[in-house]
This record gives sequence, structure tokens and C-alpha cells, in this order.
Amino acid sequence: MRILIAGGGTGDAIVYYAEMCTRFVRNGFPYACGGVDGFEIYHVDLSEVSISIAKERLKVRGLEGAPVFFIQGSLLDLSSPSGRLRLNLPSDILFDYINTSGVLHHLSSPPQGLSALKSVLTDGGSMFVMVYGEHGRTGVYDLQQSVRSLVDTVADPQSCITIVKQFISAMPPTHRLSSTIRSWMMGAEKMEDVGIYREDSEIYDIFCHSQDKAYNVESVFEFIYEGGEGELAMASWQSEVVYDPSTFYGHSQFFLDLFAPLEKSVKKFALAEKAAGSLHSKHSFLLTKDSSKKFPQGTYIGRPWNPAFDEVFASEVLCTSLEESILDYERSMWDDRFQTGWIHDESAMCRFSFDVAAAGRGFDIVETLHCSVLRVVSLLDCKRTVADVVNEVVRLEGLGSDHWWMSRGFRVVYDMALTLQKNGLIVPLPGGNGEKIENNIGGEL
Ligand SMILES: C[S@@+](CC[C@H](N)C(=O)[O-])C[C@H]1O[C@@H](n2cnc3c(N)ncnc32)[C@H](O)[C@@H]1O
Repeated sequence: MRILIAGGGTGDAIVYYAEMCTRFVRNGFPYACGGVDGFEIYHVDLSEVSISIAKERLKVRGLEGAPVFFIQGSLLDLSSPSGRLRLNLPSDILFDYINTSGVLHHLSSPPQGLSALKSVLTDGGSMFVMVYGEHGRTGVYDLQQSVRSLVDTVADPQSCITIVKQFISAMPPTHRLSSTIRSWMMGAEKMEDVGIYREDSEIYDIFCHSQDKAYNVESVFEFIYEGGEGELAMASWQSEVVYDPSTFYGHSQFFLDLFAPLEKSVKKFALAEKAAGSLHSKHSFLLTKDSSKKFPQGTYIGRPWNPAFDEVFASEVLCTSLEESILDYERSMWDDRFQTGWIHDESAMCRFSFDVAAAGRGFDIVETLHCSVLRVVSLLDCKRTVADVVNEVVRLEGLGSDHWWMSRGFRVVYDMALTLQKNGLIVPLPGGNGEKIENNIGGEL
């Protein structure tokens, strides 16, 4: 399996894939990272300095022997055989999986960048893309322009960073960025607790960068159509739940009834975005390619929801894909959320942040969900259905009959794993762990 990290920067993705693929191949997991055929990871970036940091990070982790390749150059060169040769790549090279996170929106023509990546993606391959979200950056451009009127942000990045920090700390609540910052804070008490304010590089990236474009739901689909030339379609949002308006208003029957007839479509996703306010600061999604197709603009493949079938399928996918990562997950991180061991308060939320990506080939789950969801995932054993496990968690934690919130949270995880599976990123073991899966469907979640 060949992985491309386009605009890999200082190496978050390559460290991640190299670490996880090395472990999965070493442990003989046949469904991950190409299994016995092995894997290769290519990291392309314009910046020599970033590449040297990425190399150093691999060294620190003892991964310098992993099959990784660093290429300094522009991803735009991938679009033609001669450009690939310029990058010292075979002119006909193709990749099974491409990750491009936070990169295409910095190009003067993002669709041109997407088209270049599409040209080296295999048919049936997948591409993970993250671009900035317009709604969640409300006010960012006001501040960008304010700073630009005072200093040359490109020639003098340090002054830009200093001025931005001062502006933010003195910002009146009437500024459009103030509400955005409140939503980024997500319960954090102080603005300094928000990740982006810890690192100058983050501040630079958000407020001082010479060029960026932000997208809304509709323009994401226009971008996919334009850059993908009809050969790319969205397989799934990384997290479907934040593109569902009932996530934000679903506590009321009025809204549940209002939203119920909406199909998974651009209209529904756009409504969720508009109804959520300044939540969507990034759009992360998975594309799939079929060069024999001409996907209409707005195509969302998604997947049909069929509890009678999916439930068994999910336990198979999840128990095989998550077994490594869940074992490694730092349980100590959850201590304050749990009363004793796993028992927790019904309202406790856990930051759900571990690597489904690792299990397959490239996805992170980072969500804040009810802690019981973690427990459900951790108990999946390829022997019981999801419903059986949910029922066990309900019993163990003495939860009442109303546990819809656990089911909904679980769906987030579940949707992503299925998307991975559907795109060939995880191939479940037959019967999972060699066990025959009983078709003992225990009712809807
Ligand atoms: C915001 S950083 C994101 C880095 C990384 N993907 C991550 O998520 O941490 C954007 C990166 O894209 C790189 N970049 C920008 N234009 C590029 C191009 N045309 N070809 C290759 N890399 C590019 C920059 O050098 C930078 O490292």
C-alpha cells in the first residue's frame, strides 16, 4: 500500500502512519497498511526546514528505518508525468491513499491542487482532505485584514504574531471573532487554554498566512467537483454528526420532526452548518475516486443505515480495527471523568481521541462524547453484537432506559469505521479474530 502525505509539513501525519503501520505490520495484522505487501509513505512539502523537522521526529521515535520517502517540491508537480519525474518519482506512480490536511486552501488555485492529487490516486483509492471552514473562521479575516493594515505580515511574521495576541486579549465582545473564540473554547475557562493560542505557529497559520481560502458546505462540494473533474466524490464527512442539524437542535421533538425528512445531502449539511453558528472551523472529509464515473456536483455517497445488518457488521469492523488502539489508549486520562474504574456519571463527557486511522489507513477520531461510548468500543470483542455490548454497559453502569445519547455517540465512531471499511481502508478479518460472528441481532441501538 502506498500512502502520500501532500503538504506534510513538520510531520504529524508521517510520524503517525509510520508508527502505526510499522506496528500493525509487525504484529501481523493482515488488514492494515497493506498487510503482507507492506507499505510505503511519501511526504511531499515545499519546505526544506519542515522536512528536516519531520525526519528528526521519526528519528526520535526510532522509525528512521521505516519505508518513508521525503520529497521537497510542489504537490502541483504531481499533475504531469514530467512533473513527477522532477520530484524524482516514477512518472506513472499511483497512491492508494492520500492525506492532505490544511494545505489545499493555501494554494492560489485549490481545485488545481486537488486535480493534481487526483491524478496520482488509484481508482477506488481514498483521499482525506481538510480545508478551512468559513463559519468557524467568522471574524478571523477581520483580524487578518486589521493586522495587514498595520504591518507586512509576510515580511515580519513576529510582529504579526505579537499584534494578533494583543488584539485578541483586548478584543471587545462586539467583534465577530469574539463569538468564534467562545465556540473554539468549548468549555475551556480561559482563552489561553484553547490550543491555538499556545503555539505561535498556530497563530501565524490562522492570522498571518499570506494566503488562505475558507469553505462552507456548498463551496466544499463545488471544490470537489471542480478539482475532481467528476471523478471524485465525497465518501463521507469525517464526522457525520456535525453535519446533522439535529445534533444542535435535536433535544426538541419540534426540531427532530422538522429535520427528519431531510436526506443526507448538501441541503441538510449546509443547514447544520448554518444552524450551528461558528462551529465549523474546518471541513474534514474523505473522497473516493472512480475515473469511469462522472459524479454530479454534490454527490455524497454516505451509506444506507440498516441496523439489522449494520449492527453485526459494525461489531466486526470495530472490534478488529480498534483492538490495538483501544488497548493503548491511556485510561489514566479519563480518571477525572469516572467515579471508580469505568463507572461514571451519566452526563460525563470524554474527549474521544484515538486512532482508528492507525487500525486502517488514516483517520483520527477526535470527538467529545459520552464516556460510555468509549466503554462500548472497549468491550467489543467480535463475539457480541453492538446492542449486546450497549446493554451490558447500561447494566454495568446502572443507566436508565433512556440512553439515546450513548447510541448517538457510538454512531459517530461507527460511521467512521464503516466509512473506512467501505473505502477499503480496513478489511475486516473473516469472522473477526478468526471467530465466527453469530448473527444474533439484539434489536436497534
Ligand atoms: C498548514 S501546513 C499543514 C502541514 C500538515 N499537513 C499538518 O497537518 O500539520 C501547510 C503545509 O503545506 C505546505 N505547502 C504549501 N503549498 C505547497 C505545495 N504547493 N506543495 C507542497 N507543499 C505545500 C507548506 O510548506 C506547509 O508545510
